[in-house]
Amino acid sequence: MRRKTVLDLQKMKATNEKIAMITAYDATMARLVDTAGVDMVLVGDSLGMVIQGEEDTLGVTLDDMAYHGRCVARGLSHAHLTVDMPFMSYQISAEQALASAGRLVQEGRAQSVKLEGGERSAPAVEKIVQAGIPVVGHIGLTPQSVNALGGWRVQGRGDAAAEQLLHDAHAIEEAGAFALVLEMVPAELAAEVTQALRIPTIGIGAGRNCDGQVLVCNDLLGFDMSFSPKFLKRFAELQDPMTQAVSAYIDEVRSGAFPGPEHSFHRSRTDKKVTRLY
Ligand code: KIV
Repeated sequence: MRRKTVLDLQKMKATNEKIAMITAYDATMARLVDTAGVDMVLVGDSLGMVIQGEEDTLGVTLDDMAYHGRCVARGLSHAHLTVDMPFMSYQISAEQALASAGRLVQEGRAQSVKLEGGERSAPAVEKIVQAGIPVVGHIGLTPQSVNALGGWRVQGRGDAAAEQLLHDAHAIEEAGAFALVLEMVPAELAAEVTQALRIPTIGIGAGRNCDGQVLVCNDLLGFDMSFSPKFLKRFAELQDPMTQAVSAYIDEVRSGAFPGPEHSFHRSRTDKKVTRLY
């Protein structure tokens, strides 16, 4: 089976099929979400928090993104792979943006790249698209600007802010992006943007009328039950079962119950052949 292309994804808007996107940061999670049938996988710079344990995405580097992109690409057979452009990898000039996007395609095996910002990022989007690399835009709450925005706040509230967001959405579409992420935007405004654009919108905290939705894999699986923003729905609560499994392992190691004879090798060579280590 081939991987989904930008044309497949754009066709989904035309035929009113919702796009399901999810983040992944390694090959194991990528294989799992791909097998479940997700349309797009995003190697988000949210890995700054989820993988690296930082408070924000600002310390993530292009090397980090290329590395995790490569890991995720190995786990995918069907889903389209988008890799985030990290902070300061595209803000300096359109030329810098193209060089960074090129690395994410060559080294990170990205099929498309995502970058944040509205009108101000349009020249970077245009330059990358002209070189034949598809781009996903990202407006609303743009985490790389958290310090300028004054925190993780809903964007586009009030008439002037809503008008600016609509203007930014058009600027990114005109620059050639093939899809647009809307993060933490009032549902009514996200619906208006979705109506106004030819390209699909993918929402996170932007209501149900976007053309698709994206969530962070660890969040929707409930790996961290202390993280519960309003927009998050947990489709599983795995923190406790995983902790309990590890506790059971520790108990059995300490008591000597694990490994049993069935998990041990013997001189008789009647063991099953090992086909994979780890
Ligand atoms: O970095 C990320 O995971 C993202 C999504 C939340 C849209 O940008």
